[in-house]
Amino acid sequence: MSDPIFNRIAVIGLGLIGGSFAAAARENGLARSIVAGSRSERTLEQGIALGVVDEGSQDLAEAVDGADLVFVSTPVSAMGKVLAALKPGLSGTAIVTDGGSVKGNVVTAAREALGEHFSRFVPGHPIAGKEKSGVTAADAQLYRDHRVILTPTDATDPAATAKVRAIWTAMGAEVLQMSPDYHDQVLAETSHLPHLLAFSLVDTLARQGDSTEIFRYAAGGFRDFTRIASSDPVMWHDIFRENKAALLQALDQFSDGIGRFRQAVENEDSDALMGIMTRANTARAHFLAMNGRTSYTRAHHVQCAGDDVTMTDSNDAAQNPTFVVTPGGQLQGRLRVPGDKSMSHRSIMLGSLAKGVTQVEGFLEGEDALATLQAFRDMGVVIEGPHNGQVTIHGVGLHGLKAPGKALYMGNSGTSMRLLTGLLAGQAFDVELTGDASLSKRPMERVAKPLREMGAQITTGEQGRPPVRIRGGQPLKGFHYDLPMASAQVKSAVLLGGLYAEGETSVTEPAPTRDHTERMLGGFGYEVRRDGATSALTGGGTLSAGKLEVPADISSAAFFLVGASIAADSEVTLPHVGINPTRTGVIDILKLMGADIRLENQRDAGGEPVADLVVKAAPLKGIEIPEALVPLAIDEFPAIFIAAACAEGETILRGAEELRVKESDRIQVMADGLAALGVSHEVFEDGIRITGGKFGGGEVQSHGDHRIAMSFAMAALRATGPITIHDCANVATSFPGFAQLATHAGLKLEVK
Ligand code: S3P
Repeated sequence: MSDPIFNRIAVIGLGLIGGSFAAAARENGLARSIVAGSRSERTLEQGIALGVVDEGSQDLAEAVDGADLVFVSTPVSAMGKVLAALKPGLSGTAIVTDGGSVKGNVVTAAREALGEHFSRFVPGHPIAGKEKSGVTAADAQLYRDHRVILTPTDATDPAATAKVRAIWTAMGAEVLQMSPDYHDQVLAETSHLPHLLAFSLVDTLARQGDSTEIFRYAAGGFRDFTRIASSDPVMWHDIFRENKAALLQALDQFSDGIGRFRQAVENEDSDALMGIMTRANTARAHFLAMNGRTSYTRAHHVQCAGDDVTMTDSNDAAQNPTFVVTPGGQLQGRLRVPGDKSMSHRSIMLGSLAKGVTQVEGFLEGEDALATLQAFRDMGVVIEGPHNGQVTIHGVGLHGLKAPGKALYMGNSGTSMRLLTGLLAGQAFDVELTGDASLSKRPMERVAKPLREMGAQITTGEQGRPPVRIRGGQPLKGFHYDLPMASAQVKSAVLLGGLYAEGETSVTEPAPTRDHTERMLGGFGYEVRRDGATSALTGGGTLSAGKLEVPADISSAAFFLVGASIAADSEVTLPHVGINPTRTGVIDILKLMGADIRLENQRDAGGEPVADLVVKAAPLKGIEIPEALVPLAIDEFPAIFIAAACAEGETILRGAEELRVKESDRIQVMADGLAALGVSHEVFEDGIRITGGKFGGGEVQSHGDHRIAMSFAMAALRATGPITIHDCANVATSFPGFAQLATHAGLKLEVK
């Protein structure tokens, strides 16, 4: 045995928890010897016979003699007595820890029973269990991928805490640390209260006249809700008594909540009812996501499917998948890509500010748009769905948003943060906007600056990055802004701020950028005057709710436009794609390179033009990309770079410095990926030169940028070796289901 953490472990109380601790210590070689202390001779014999412990004693002081770690896993109510009984046998340096599910009372009991030895006591609580009990159910794997909470006090020796942390970690557990009181409060709310409710519901129904009749008709809902009422009454009796104060507090909070629910039912208040339940739905999805360390989208789908699985930490593919793509193949079929991201964001924003109910079809159920949706829920808007792309927004009017209880978290989404900065600049309340690691590096002064000129009070973090803090109650005044860069986000932020400003707000852009904000405002009956490069509106109007259809996202279609163009014998139809002229740069650029793309069935879908795109493989040639097309294809360059790598000759892009401040520095990150595949290129500050030809496989870092990941996946169609792409979790921000759709079309992609 190589250097175990402890020499001799004494486990006091050899039930499921203690027995499993001993078994895990044994299996992982964490102690030279393991001894048990128990009042029951039979239990000790069983433990020894099962090989869980080496020896045992009914005298607790004798059991702990010579042990350098003592783990006490007796009922919480017995803890004081047990500690007092074992104390005489403790060596001066022995560390004592426990597995009790209430911590405040255990700490009090331990302080009293252990005296000067209390500094070596590390209170703990493994959050694990099984239906079965007793040492015969001991399981060396019980704690693997489960959480253990340690609650050291100010008096606890940090070195002792570190050693207890080390042994749990070695057993495969995740160790968290908090104060004993906080532990008891959290557990009261999340574990003790639900158990109490389950016991209470079953008891209440059982007391009624003909309870057998009621139980005969009780279906899945009753069974699901009351499963935990089968837990051990003696143990729960103990817990409820030991954690009385925190449990009563949680119960009072719950009574308030049930009171609100009752009132909503009594008053037939649909808004209040939907509000409670939609908030609960999303809160639960967040909870599953957090528990599974997985994406919001995945948790949401799991929840919608009614599949109440516990997603474990070991599910790496769900956490941050790697794409491994085998070279070759072709793309075929009719492929419906998800809804447009830009329009999905705006549908939630404008639907929330409208008067009345807005029905959205084709909403993108990706992380970015869901971040916007969640933000409006946090500001009190009742939003139903999304279910299969359908969302129902109960608009609150221009002045109906409420102060959120906490900072609004925008995840990876720059569009959410920038547009919301504009929209929230004129609200009556303060608000803070935060984001993930990538978003926290992106420039926000570009929106804060013009909004300040309108009278907003906005601060940004270091170097003008998030968090963005907005002070409420500032009167805004309309003004004219000449955009210093071609950015639809900045244009939209100023126009959305303008809704709250006195007089006219106008924006002139240096080059055309996507105009979904202007179009959609028009769709909601809000006049936007457009004159060449200038858009203007007057504040203080009204948005009227209605129906909205979000077409498929041309930015997501772009990967298949490129993939089918570069892979011999491919032919793909992409139905119902938005072809707003401010977004079709990718089609123009690929056509200039020789791509075979046809637009069929062109039509109007609620103020936005759409078409079915038919693309066939074609030989591509390098081009100088016209600068005027850059803002019209700004999100599609990662895919276009792959087309360039497959084209004959050189492709040159200039005037695209904006690419450096997207979800990643898309010029550098793409250049690094191309280098890994052996594609020759030259990087400029504002663009790149790519020389097309044959290229190999290799390992590519996506830097968490969804579009980089999907672009390199398509590159494998022409690579001579496999391409491995790391850090692909964020593909879900814009294109949930990409891997499945691409595989279905013929890409040899594996998610690992
Ligand atoms: C977007 C505008 C663009 C684009 C982004 C979405 C929008 O950003 O890159 O993905 O929805 O307004 P910029 O305005 O920064 O160019």
